[in-house]
Amino acid sequence: MTTDTRPVVYLTRRETFCAAHRLWSDQLSDAENHALFGHCAREFGHGHNYVLEVTVRGAIDPKTGVVVNVTQIRDATRDLLLDDVDHRHLNHDSVLCRGLNPTVENLAVLFWTVLKEHFGELLYEIKLHETEKNWVVYRGETTTWGHDG
Ligand code: NI
Repeated sequence: MTTDTRPVVYLTRRETFCAAHRLWSDQLSDAENHALFGHCAREFGHGHNYVLEVTVRGAIDPKTGVVVNVTQIRDATRDLLLDDVDHRHLNHDSVLCRGLNPTVENLAVLFWTVLKEHFGELLYEIKLHETEKNWVVYRGETTTWGHDG
């Protein structure tokens, strides 16, 4: 019996979308919301140019030389996520974001959850840039500790 080892690589597809949001927590006072969210708490919202990087992890198929056809990542991202959020107001006009405070953290977890259903174990990481200076990485981790514990 031979041991068949194959290189494991991380394949990333980058997509962009534009959306408006208003960040607001009902569990905070008006003053606390404005202090925490700044411009993002403006009453009528404002926009961001988001960059979404979806990374899958897998072995290279020796027959094709690829992990998956990268167009599968492109199409799933567009069909399952971008069609719902691109050029929308996330608080008012996105089915996926309904009831969500659309912080970049919450959006990254939401996008992970949607794509995990589609890609299963292949999905490795979601990286969502809200600005050139702020972004979130999510790999499906959870914890029982928080700021209060
Ligand atoms: Ni904002």
